[in-house]
Amino acid sequence: MLLSPFIVNVKWYAVLLNVVMERLSTGVESLDRILEGGIPRGFFVAVTGEPGTGKTILCISFIAKGIEERDKCIYVTTEESRKSIIVQASQFGIDLQDAIDRKALVIIDALMGQEDQWSLKSLELEDLVEKILEAKRYLGYGRARLVVDSMSAFWLDKPAMARRYSYYLKKVLSKWDFTVLATSQYAISTSQAFGWGLEHVADGIIRFRRALRGGKLRRYLIIEKMRQTEHSLNLHQIDIVKGRGLVILGPVEARKEDVTLPKDVVSKIKKAIEKAESEIP
Ligand SMILES: Nc1ncnc2c1ncn2[C@@H]1O[C@H](COP(=O)(O)OP(=O)(O)OP(=O)(O)O)[C@@H](O)[C@H]1O
Ligand SMILES: [Mg+2]
Repeated sequence: MLLSPFIVNVKWYAVLLNVVMERLSTGVESLDRILEGGIPRGFFVAVTGEPGTGKTILCISFIAKGIEERDKCIYVTTEESRKSIIVQASQFGIDLQDAIDRKALVIIDALMGQEDQWSLKSLELEDLVEKILEAKRYLGYGRARLVVDSMSAFWLDKPAMARRYSYYLKKVLSKWDFTVLATSQYAISTSQAFGWGLEHVADGIIRFRRALRGGKLRRYLIIEKMRQTEHSLNLHQIDIVKGRGLVILGPVEARKEDVTLPKDVVSKIKKAIEKAESEIP
């Protein structure tokens, strides 16, 4: 009895907190809807999944929305060139070059071979942080969005460092008003991440998946984690539509077997990898 006013107060406090919590739109309306409006400001979100599932396209949408909302936007690209990101975005009606020219966006290119102010000279984490902060100072004060696509590139030769690196990046960036999307890749063969750790450190996980059904590639998305958010727990089928970008088609009643390889196949692949690794002198 005595406790009930306290419980009511706690409930109202929770409601209020949700109302005042600022969320950043992902740029994909249907995704915002299953995220209570978007990603909480300041969050560090892991975007994971196999190749070709839509991670980069989501990152581009997030940045495009940021440009529209006059956020300071930084996109770090490690596997595709700056030009490739600009071309990809243009296919969805997004003009990134214009944003660069207006000093609303910096694309940091880690693909070696090209040297200018916004190219990364190495895949060392300290260099990455330094470049991101240089870009933030260049863009000026204010709410900022950052994409690191992908983080895997920074620990490919040392996957055990994934967690420590992710923690370091999150800690340093938290002081700079960034809301971050950081991608990491999963191998098609085993659906295993290249280095565990990003997922544990992240405030949220948006997981992309793929499956072949009736000879056709289907793509899916599930919110595996989003702290402080009552998000959908469903697997959703998605599509990438010319001229529009990422679209959520709707929730699916998929069984685990629908999106993973059979257990014995995974086990065979794992054994083959272990054998190959044990033969390394
Ligand atoms: N203009 C377009 N129209 C329709 N679909 C497109 C278009 N451009 C790209 N796609 C689809 O998007 C896929 C690539 O998605 P995306 O680059 O986001 O994948 P990813 O998850 O980032 O992969 P990776 O891990 O290899 O970087 C392509 O394989 C293609 O199916
Ligand atoms: Mg990509």
